Amino acid sequence: MTLKSLIRTIPHYPKEGVQFRDVTTLMKNPEGFRRAIDLLGERYRDQGIRIVAGIESRGFIVGAALAHHLGAGFVPIRKKGKLPAPVIHEDYELEYGLDRIEVHVDAIGKGERVLLVDDLIATGGTAEAALKLIGTLGGVVVETAFLVDLPDLGGRRRLEALGHKVFTLTEFEGD
Ligand code: PRP
Ligand code: MG
Repeated sequence: MTLKSLIRTIPHYPKEGVQFRDVTTLMKNPEGFRRAIDLLGERYRDQGIRIVAGIESRGFIVGAALAHHLGAGFVPIRKKGKLPAPVIHEDYELEYGLDRIEVHVDAIGKGERVLLVDDLIATGGTAEAALKLIGTLGGVVVETAFLVDLPDLGGRRRLEALGHKVFTLTEFEGD
């Protein structure tokens, strides 16, 4: 059993021509979900991670489990209008129009070591916005980790070009 084999592909969803990589089938698999979190946990165990930051909403699932595994805190990076205390925000491009993510201003302290996680990187726009938020708060991003990379969409290259480190457990390229 590979992690990749546990991820379901839904053809032509949400629109014609798109192959949707559905991580819910990995997450519902007891061995698969544990293995994914354990692999990330082993990689970051001795890295002095204080905070795992996860991006709403699928990044919460990975991030919270990993934070627990590492004995780190968890910080939610949320879509606009969800967080109750003062926030900073970043806008990022979707296929049509803009979206916004936010984080509490006091969520991360200056110099705190942060691991950013999400389920999947496609264009990298969401992760880039999240990295800006963490940087604005003074957090030190150790790495950005994803279950799935879609290299054809260029997200990893985009983040690496900005000087960030990227780690992914599996990828779907040209298929
Ligand atoms: C998906 C995915 C990543 C993001 C990747 O989230 O979970 O967060 O898109 O795309 P990008 O690299 O092109 O920015 P989505 O916004 O669909 O929301 P969800 O996690 O709430 O389902
Ligand atoms: Mg998401």
